[in-house]
Amino acid sequence: MSRWAYVNGRYVPHATARTHVEDRGMQFSDGVYEVIAVVGGALVDATLHFERLDRSLSALEIAAPMRRAPLEAVLREVARRNRVSEGIVYLQVNRGVAPRNHAFPRDARPSMVVTARRGQPASSPALVEGVRVITIPDIRWRRRDIKSVSLLANVLAKQAAAQDGAFEAWQVDEDGMVTEGSQSNAWMVEADGAVVTRPPSHDILTGITRTRLIDLARQDGITVIERAFTPQEAARAREAFLTSTSSFVVPVVQIDDAVVANGRPGAVTERLRALYLDFVARQAITILHTALAKA
Ligand code: PDD
Repeated sequence: MSRWAYVNGRYVPHATARTHVEDRGMQFSDGVYEVIAVVGGALVDATLHFERLDRSLSALEIAAPMRRAPLEAVLREVARRNRVSEGIVYLQVNRGVAPRNHAFPRDARPSMVVTARRGQPASSPALVEGVRVITIPDIRWRRRDIKSVSLLANVLAKQAAAQDGAFEAWQVDEDGMVTEGSQSNAWMVEADGAVVTRPPSHDILTGITRTRLIDLARQDGITVIERAFTPQEAARAREAFLTSTSSFVVPVVQIDDAVVANGRPGAVTERLRALYLDFVARQAITILHTALAKA
């Protein structure tokens, strides 16, 4: 099956998709990205992703490459051309192409790349049964709220997890508190069933899955407390889990060498996972109905 990418205004075969050698994304990681889940052919929580994209772009003073409606159309078209009805689309916006010089170029046009990939890891049995995370010092810069393509520390963290046979690495700040995973947000469940996750700040990426799940949990009568926690507290907690666009809600059953509770996914996590899966399915149906009504 042929794969397609979108590069700066053109749909091109994935195998030959290229950007310029002096794209600042390559030379300085001077760009931002989004990963959006595709369920039933629909983009999950596209509006929240576009809002975060705008925040990332404006924090770096990069102009939006296009307005929201055409941008969404490009993402949908890349998903369609790649026959991705369950999977992800990846969007990257860089400051543009310019002779190498650290300061912003005067008139570079933002460059934009979109790819799509099939696969729904959220349903893989290994994730449903729960995963192990390791802990690692958080060595990243202090603006983790910007979804920057500068992911070297995250790459090293994830590699450390992989080498240890773990699914994810929970990064820990100078105060001994968990910030987040290398590509996911971290959560624990208190003895009384209240769900805990770190509040939004410059210290973490405010995950879209996190934002949506907080809303779904509260609607379901589950208490959500936004505060930082230590890995030790999470290891002693009733349950732990992580969230991301690429894996939705994943039980964490071991933190380093400590088994969480009985080492199996807990009831609160299972409930939240079901609420999230139900939400994405309902949202996909609504989007499809709206599109059909317009057609
Ligand atoms: N990662 N924290 C970090 C550092 C992340 O990279 C991600 C997402 C999240 C969760 O955010 P969201 O729920 O919006 O996906 C938290 C994406 C999926 C990635 O880089 O693959």
